[in-house]
Amino acid sequence: MPGITLMGAVDWDRRLFDSLIPLPEGTSYNAYLVRGSEKTALVDTVDPAKVDVLMAQLDTVQRLDYLVAQHAEQDHSGSIPAVLARYPGAVLVTNPKAKELLQEHLDIPDDRFKTVADGETLSLGNKTLRFIYLPWVHWPETMGTYIEEDHVLFSCDFLGSHRAQSGVFAERHIVMHGAKRYYAEIMMPFRSFVIKNLDKLAGMQIDMVCPSHGPIYKDPTFIMDAYREWAGDPPHNKVVIPFISMHGSTLKMVDRLTAALADRGVTVERFDLTTSDLGEIAMSLVDAATIVIGTPAVLTGPHPKTIEIAYLAGALRPKTQFVSIVGSFGWGQRIVDILGGLIAPLKAELLTPVLAKGEPRAADMQAIDVLADTIAARHREAGLH
Ligand code: FEO
Repeated sequence: MPGITLMGAVDWDRRLFDSLIPLPEGTSYNAYLVRGSEKTALVDTVDPAKVDVLMAQLDTVQRLDYLVAQHAEQDHSGSIPAVLARYPGAVLVTNPKAKELLQEHLDIPDDRFKTVADGETLSLGNKTLRFIYLPWVHWPETMGTYIEEDHVLFSCDFLGSHRAQSGVFAERHIVMHGAKRYYAEIMMPFRSFVIKNLDKLAGMQIDMVCPSHGPIYKDPTFIMDAYREWAGDPPHNKVVIPFISMHGSTLKMVDRLTAALADRGVTVERFDLTTSDLGEIAMSLVDAATIVIGTPAVLTGPHPKTIEIAYLAGALRPKTQFVSIVGSFGWGQRIVDILGGLIAPLKAELLTPVLAKGEPRAADMQAIDVLADTIAARHREAGLH
């Protein structure tokens, strides 16, 4: 688009975000140069690991009047000090909360800042930037920037995807998998804010969404509709079973539950935690009505890998309505106490767990069938499809 240039860096090789989240498709840190008839602004910077890429792109920019910081997390803000050093006259434009965080994280001097209110505008001449607070997607201070004349929204983390690609624009059938995965890992804990922010944007004419990660949306309707479905629609008639088995007993119970649920028309997605990718599990949780964790006892507690997944589910807070636990133990167990505490933030109904002492017997398998009956009935009663 005239006057708007995609800058930033494609990080093809990054495989982990926050030292936690797998990035099978890499990622990008998008910065955007906006040239008005009178002033020039750069919207966001890049992860400090890619500062040289951005600085080389800026070799063609003689004068920078404004640097807009939409988000204080370092993958976008980490190169702000280098940009401010190159352009001593540039003003760092952000909101008061982001200013506070940027000063804490990057030690930026007070006199470089200009703070803006929600909805405030800044003229670049023939282009007008309007700042739109988008709290909690992904941090409390996050904001977007809208170009009034072009109907372009720089949405920061919101609506993005962790995807490295050579092309600039998003193709729906290619981007959706990664976008859902990104939503699950980054946005899902803030579902109510996702909806509020979508509502806030609903009254605006937005012809293009330029996120800070992944490709640009020339037709943003599909990604905004997808976010509304992921965050707001009822979950599906689906059970996610993250499990681990040491000697085969828990596996037998998980196999039985999988078959029993399938017989009752319930979709099952199961993940062996010795080989599964956390991002795939998080994505599966986006629209699952029920989570059943399968674990043997390790000493008297659950297997540590199920502790990780229960903690993650509690932290990501998907739309889950029902939870349960199946597994086996040797001589005693506190599995339900420990896992139940970790998944408590879901505020989901705990359906009677099935824990077998040693090899699961016929009575244990019948209890699994009863659990499948209960899950299917609860999903039916809730009208889930
Ligand atoms: Fe892409 Fe929340 O930073």
